[in-house]
Amino acid sequence: MKLEKKVEEKLLAYIKEIFANDSWTLAHSLSAVGIIKQIAKSEGADEKILATTMYLHDIGYGGLLADGYSFSQRIAAKKEHMPKGAKMARDFLGRIGGYTEEEISQIAHLIEVHDNVDALKTQDELLVLEADSLASIDPKVPFSFSEEDVVKYVDFFLNHRATRFVSKKGKELLEKFSTQNKVFAGMAGKFKK
Ligand SMILES: [Fe+2]
Repeated sequence: MKLEKKVEEKLLAYIKEIFANDSWTLAHSLSAVGIIKQIAKSEGADEKILATTMYLHDIGYGGLLADGYSFSQRIAAKKEHMPKGAKMARDFLGRIGGYTEEEISQIAHLIEVHDNVDALKTQDELLVLEADSLASIDPKVPFSFSEEDVVKYVDFFLNHRATRFVSKKGKELLEKFSTQNKVFAGMAGKFKK
């Protein structure tokens, strides 16, 4: 199913408010939405479920991280942001309407597990992983962390994220972003030896 414009406007307004002081996560979330739409289209997957999930996947960080947070603070909040975000998504989607109970449960589940990358199995879980991963190396959304932290991130990405891509479109975009994102390409080149 497609995501309706009117509903999409509400999702956008909601995350803009949550990430008012976290422009990286806002840009990351919007990038993830654009990417999942392309992937959902080429895979014939459910855009309404997946695009809603990408809008909301990181809302659990809202309120957990103070402005100007460091990479290690973000890592420390990682485990908690998933159940917190799933609960916030349930409340928000129930409030705005336009979603069945079943749809809300699917979206909340995807948010609740999205960063447990090694445990992801279903097609929807893996497509969310692809969009989240790609958005994190989107050349238009540059890394906001220190070089040392980017090294750690790229290492993790190559071993736990890039290896799990299943869709044709996702793999295509992975190749494109890995080249266009010069910081990523430079680091990845060092790891390959
Ligand atoms: Fe997340």
